[in-house]
Amino acid sequence: MLNNSLIELDRAHLIHPVASYRGHEQQGVRVLASAKGATVTDASGHRLVDGFAGLWCVNAGYGHDSIVEAAARQMRDLPYATAYFGLGSEPAIRLASELADRAPGDLKHIYFTLGGSDAIDSTIRFIRYYWIAKGQPQRDQFISIEQGYHGSSTVGAGLTALPNFHAGFGIPFDWQHKIPSPYPYRNPVGEDAATIIAASLAALRTKVEAIGPDRVAAFMPSRSRVRAASSCRRKAGSRPCVTSAGISISFLSPMR
Ligand SMILES: Cc1ncc(COP(=O)(O)O)c(C=O)c1O
Repeated sequence: MLNNSLIELDRAHLIHPVASYRGHEQQGVRVLASAKGATVTDASGHRLVDGFAGLWCVNAGYGHDSIVEAAARQMRDLPYATAYFGLGSEPAIRLASELADRAPGDLKHIYFTLGGSDAIDSTIRFIRYYWIAKGQPQRDQFISIEQGYHGSSTVGAGLTALPNFHAGFGIPFDWQHKIPSPYPYRNPVGEDAATIIAASLAALRTKVEAIGPDRVAAFMPSRSRVRAASSCRRKAGSRPCVTSAGISISFLSPMR
């Protein structure tokens, strides 16, 4: 009964992204009620393996008391603190420091966003700002890879190479370019890793030449974050570990 009324309320009021509206309306929502470890349980009692780790953001798995307690403590002490206007808070500062310790090379400064798509938009703003500050404002063209995923905001979805994210939305923008994916499955150059990498580099060079080397702002390869997140969770067992799309910024290569 409760379930049925939830399904009707959902039909009446809730918009589901990445779903067929008519198909969803017909089928009705599957309500998730609880979760533990790597599984979620729906309102009818069916347990499902959460292969997506939420939307790749529950890489620690569900139901860790240490996370629940830390979140509850923080909600009591200071539920929100902006970083605007020179303000800060202890958890944000400590997390930035921990991430900087783990980041490769000289990546020592962390900018927090609300999620992966927001991180991509912020990254593009940082890169544009960087080139404008360097006196090269004409560097405003971005290259990503086919089959890459950069989220669902208007700008990020243009770099994302999924036709469903483009059709009817007026994207990609004319400053967003793609090169073929180095994905080995059915790659036209075969399965040999060195050959695939060589072909990918050649495609990137050709694209940069076509755009104009002094126009390219950045190449944005899409990291295989989905695999990273799931294997992280598998290896973690009962210990939480963290990967995040927000870290995408670390893997960008501004064109020098
Ligand atoms: C590389 C990358 N960028 C951006 C995103 C979008 O993240 P979000 O769903 O948090 O907006 C994802 C999501 O999987 C991603 O893998």
